[in-house]
Amino acid sequence: MCGIVGYIGHREAYPIIIEGLKRLEYRGYDSAGIALFDGTDLKVSKTKGKVADLENISEKEITKTGNVGIGHTRWATHGVPNDVNSHPHTSNSGDLVIIHNGIIENYESLKQELIARGYTFKSDTDTEVLINLIEDVKKQEDVKLGKAVQIALNQVIGAYAITVFDKNKPEEIVVARLGSPLAVGIGEDEFFIASDASPFIEYTKDAIYLEDEEMAIIRFHKGIKIRKIKDDSLVDPYIQKLQLNLEEIEKGGYDHFMLKEIHEQPKAITDTYRGRLLRDQAIIKMAGVEDNMKKFLNANRIIIVACGTSWHAGLVAEYIFEDLARIPVEVEYASEFRYRNPVIREDDVLIAISQSGETADTLAAIKLAKSKGAFVFGVCNVVGSSIARETDAGAYTHAGPEIGVASTKAFTTQITVLTLMALRLSRAKGTITSSEYRRHLLELEMIPGKVEKALESDAHIRYIADIYKDASNCLYLGRGYNFPVALEGALKLKEISYIHAEGYPAAEMKHGPIALIDENMPIVVIATKKGHYEKVVSNIQEIKSRKGKIIGIVTEGDEQVKELADHVIEVPETLESLSPLLTTIPLQLLSYYIAVMLDKNVDQPRNLAKSVTVE
Ligand code: AGP
Repeated sequence: MCGIVGYIGHREAYPIIIEGLKRLEYRGYDSAGIALFDGTDLKVSKTKGKVADLENISEKEITKTGNVGIGHTRWATHGVPNDVNSHPHTSNSGDLVIIHNGIIENYESLKQELIARGYTFKSDTDTEVLINLIEDVKKQEDVKLGKAVQIALNQVIGAYAITVFDKNKPEEIVVARLGSPLAVGIGEDEFFIASDASPFIEYTKDAIYLEDEEMAIIRFHKGIKIRKIKDDSLVDPYIQKLQLNLEEIEKGGYDHFMLKEIHEQPKAITDTYRGRLLRDQAIIKMAGVEDNMKKFLNANRIIIVACGTSWHAGLVAEYIFEDLARIPVEVEYASEFRYRNPVIREDDVLIAISQSGETADTLAAIKLAKSKGAFVFGVCNVVGSSIARETDAGAYTHAGPEIGVASTKAFTTQITVLTLMALRLSRAKGTITSSEYRRHLLELEMIPGKVEKALESDAHIRYIADIYKDASNCLYLGRGYNFPVALEGALKLKEISYIHAEGYPAAEMKHGPIALIDENMPIVVIATKKGHYEKVVSNIQEIKSRKGKIIGIVTEGDEQVKELADHVIEVPETLESLSPLLTTIPLQLLSYYIAVMLDKNVDQPRNLAKSVTVE
């Protein structure tokens, strides 16, 4: 995915676009570019690298004045990240300019047709094909830019969010979306365009989120017109009041967003259950579940689809739904599910989990399940996201913006929402006793305080990070509820430190990974008191006899593992089903400090983007 920013109004566009791109850099950061109309001509500056690199080169390359402009931060799909492939792209005449997020799947055939008509191409991108297609339509059909964009998009197969303008008509910007998000901020006689609202939050709280297959023509002094791309029908704009604050998208004194977001977890978890967990009345209130209780109670099974960290949260949910609510659960990678002709029945309930609400594979899995008549429930963080809109009902995690590419608070708040759901359903089904249910409510309410306590191991974790930062491989082991935590711990380490790491069910170690263990191999073992403690202790003994280095994640006061392990990190005691909310915390910090010590870009790891809006 990529980040898109645009501006048309009475202010200087350059600083708005550059600052906006910095806020969207989490979406992709292998190259960046800007196009400005400076009053007489179109100026384009673009480069491989970060927005800071763009700032440096644009200083020399362009005059930074002008009230109309578009900017882009890229996560490459077509063509390697280099200066030429960076956006914006101009048409052959040099009149039209575009930035694009998404993939044009039929770009190769469109390109051949354009080449046959005399067009030439400088880059390897699908985007350059699209802007020339728009130019070709505009000339052939003798239509205005908006119409040309519409006709061209009707020939395109794929996904896009685009922003286009014509240097001969710089009082107008045309935008469109299919499968990639696009928001328009409405100011006083000025408009902001962005992939999410963060670039314009200090200028306006009024925003329109384009729906799929919609385009908008935005004219300075004249306003905005939204149309359906397919049939040209006019759409009534729905202006939303944004709840986002500037502080929420700033680092607030932390060195990295990831560290800030790790420390935000006590508050984020509280925000997730606030108004839902009413312990005094022994009630869980979740409108999306309540309104669809019959669907859940009559469900043949629950299918959970997600990717990455969200998939790990889904695995934790599998344990808790089956354990407490006795509903069969299957957890699927969205990318596999959508392409393997799965059996889906009308009495299946599909739960889609996604922080961003924009992950392309998860969105496609939802559409597939809906087409087969299943009821689809979303667990998302980003309000108004594509997945939140596409699902039949849902529950937001209310974690606040997560900007670090490595998910942290998204994971723990997803588990919180799914735990609330499992508890509510187990109560409705009568699969949990009243005292067990109340115990869970009480323990869940105490989790934020216990996360706070787990965060106090910060200095000790930094000490351990320093010892193991040069390891080439690392194993993470856990059983039961903490098996998914082992997977998540390994993912955190590899994505930000580039150290190879594997998560495994502890007992599975004997079926292969044990061969890797020697005196150079650090092994993180989650060995909390509840659950399969004795079994995990046996696994630790097996590692010890092969001289592996053991980092145990243990319950406060544990002595047995302390004896065996090289290091232990303590977390407060809680119910086994809630333990992932605590055992995850030291693993997040361990990865963070190792990556910092290795001088890696923690918030923007190489090759990654915050949400993957292409399949
Ligand atoms: C993990 O740290 C990553 N951010 C990644 O695995 C992520 O969880 C995955 O891409 C799914 O994203 P989503 O939750 O926004 O759908």
